[in-house]
Amino acid sequence: MMTSLSSHRWLRPAAGDRTPRLSYGADYNPEQWPREVWKEDVRLMQEAGVTIVSLAIFSWARLEPAEGRWDFAWLDEVMDLLHDSGIDVDLATATASPPPWLVERHPEILPVTRTGETVWPGGRQHWRPTSPVFRAHALRLVETMATRYRDHPALAAWHVSNELGCHNVYDYSDDAAHAFRDWLRARYGTVDALNDAWATTFWSQIYSDWQQILPPRLAATHPNPTQQLDFKRFSSDALKDYLRAERDVLRRVTPDIPVTTNFMVMGGTGGMNYPDWADEVDFVSNDHYVTPGPQGLDELSFSANLTSGIAGGHPWFLMEHSTSAVNWQPVNQAKRPGELTRDSLLHVAHGADAVAFFQWRQSAGGAEKYHSAMVPHAGPDSDIFRTVSALGQTLTGLAPVAGSVRRTARAAILFDWESWWTSELDSHPTSRLRYHQEALDWYSAFLELGVRADVITARSDLTRYDVVVAPVLHVVPKALADRLTAYCTGGGHLVTTYFSGIVDENDHVWLGGYPGALRDLLGIRIEEMAPLADGESVMLGDGSTATLWTDRITVVDPDVTVLTDYVTGDQAGRPAVTRRTLPGGGSATYVSTRLGRHLGPLLSRLLEAADVRSELPPDARGRVELAVRVNDAGVYWFLVNRTDQSVVLPGTGGRVLVGRGDDAGTVTLAPRGVAVVHRDR
Ligand code: GAL
Repeated sequence: MMTSLSSHRWLRPAAGDRTPRLSYGADYNPEQWPREVWKEDVRLMQEAGVTIVSLAIFSWARLEPAEGRWDFAWLDEVMDLLHDSGIDVDLATATASPPPWLVERHPEILPVTRTGETVWPGGRQHWRPTSPVFRAHALRLVETMATRYRDHPALAAWHVSNELGCHNVYDYSDDAAHAFRDWLRARYGTVDALNDAWATTFWSQIYSDWQQILPPRLAATHPNPTQQLDFKRFSSDALKDYLRAERDVLRRVTPDIPVTTNFMVMGGTGGMNYPDWADEVDFVSNDHYVTPGPQGLDELSFSANLTSGIAGGHPWFLMEHSTSAVNWQPVNQAKRPGELTRDSLLHVAHGADAVAFFQWRQSAGGAEKYHSAMVPHAGPDSDIFRTVSALGQTLTGLAPVAGSVRRTARAAILFDWESWWTSELDSHPTSRLRYHQEALDWYSAFLELGVRADVITARSDLTRYDVVVAPVLHVVPKALADRLTAYCTGGGHLVTTYFSGIVDENDHVWLGGYPGALRDLLGIRIEEMAPLADGESVMLGDGSTATLWTDRITVVDPDVTVLTDYVTGDQAGRPAVTRRTLPGGGSATYVSTRLGRHLGPLLSRLLEAADVRSELPPDARGRVELAVRVNDAGVYWFLVNRTDQSVVLPGTGGRVLVGRGDDAGTVTLAPRGVAVVHRDR
């Protein structure tokens, strides 16, 4: 059960005044350095304002050099040193990367790819989430760690494994096959029910025994889509089950220490259904690395915003991001001045109460030696270290924000894992659809209009919002269709797009015309989808250009208005965007094509109709992102400069906690700068 972070001890200074603060720190890997360096490390941590570090994430081989032979002396020393310096520890269970002796003895823990290749050691995370042998060894380590450090005063939180599923989410081994069958048995009860759900009358796939069922390994042609979807669900659940197993040991031995694990809400594979994991941890943590390109900052904001949605509005822990370049993109560019601080504070703006980096000291050897850190290769006499130290001070000054919650926006974007997984399966009308990109483009359009929008999940309460945009909401089970209908009849404004409402939870098409489950609500009917060829675009009546997709729409309901139509292409003269008004004042809008970065004018029209407006002065819209946090002491406006020029914001009317402002309430944002203004409620 998630609890309020402000009740967690790691948000409070280790000694003295116990009022909440924002935490600050990094992954700390002292085992990569001689002992002499550790003393300098803690001194520099104090200088930088570090309050917490994640320790022992990849330490298994060092802690257990041979089966059952333990070496804790070095970790004891580091834990003591940190505690003596007033620094808390988010202690890892150290299970993320199994040691060579374990693999030598038990090669059956190694994952297997779709094509049957073994994933060998040499990197990290070479373990099967479903391996009973791996689990037994890992849980033995967890128990030993928990027992050894249960009373250590530095222990503030447990960090289960690391980025579960980052490299091993999809495992097609025999262990996975066994566990998949068990999972299917629990879901369907009988083979017949599975046959129905998987539509196995198609291509002679009817199963007569559970033993015949396999993970979707390399097949001659398109594997069964529902089998693929269920394998994705199963793979997420298998890792979640593993998370629970570690967590249960920790809770038994140290019931008072909160447990977390670092999610990768927008990174990695998309394979973990995090909304469904959030209840398993005591607080949500997330890792984020900036995607290079024009939407990089928007994507960061989207990720932080969604993490807050997944955390159910509770403050969360930014467990990793980078001070500058990473080492795993095709080209790893350094951050420009201002970006380090801006990126960190944008996470705080969206509800992070702790900011941590990968990693404390940049490695001299190993695969991540070119990855930036808080202390770079150049040492503390460096711009990076000076900037992280200044950020430490800024976060100290932001202590009043700790424990505050984000103020709910009036609009939301619904991001749904089931639709993400299913809309991008093979053998579809187009292979070019990118679910996340479509959602991000809507988010960018909100940012350009200067209108706040929350990123929410299918579990969220829709009724808190005047407008809900649900792009490519492909999987719509009956219950979700009912909820969306109730939302609109209750006065809500729903916007959805092409390829929405098409299938149920078994990936079976809702018959009778598209958009299937949403057809009646939208008041339209589509007989045929008409995706566009690569490079093809069409013009709409409102002057915009669209790509990827079109639909042949017939308006059915008399309360549907055509907001714009196609003027070129095969659908010329037919509706492109429709809007049905409902008796209670709500509406249901359908956007049948992809407007990408040209969504602004349409979104602006839709928001106007719902009377949702920007809270920013007109000049700042698009140039500044606003995020708002609130607690009993007031409201905190986070103003983030999205441009490379300074921006002046008059009339913010509050006390400037971060940034430059004058008595008249005018705030000046440096290029890529951030201001935080404290206003009365
Ligand atoms: C994360 C991982 C860290 C480090 C980092 C580099 O995925 O958890 O251990 O590898 O990436 O960006």
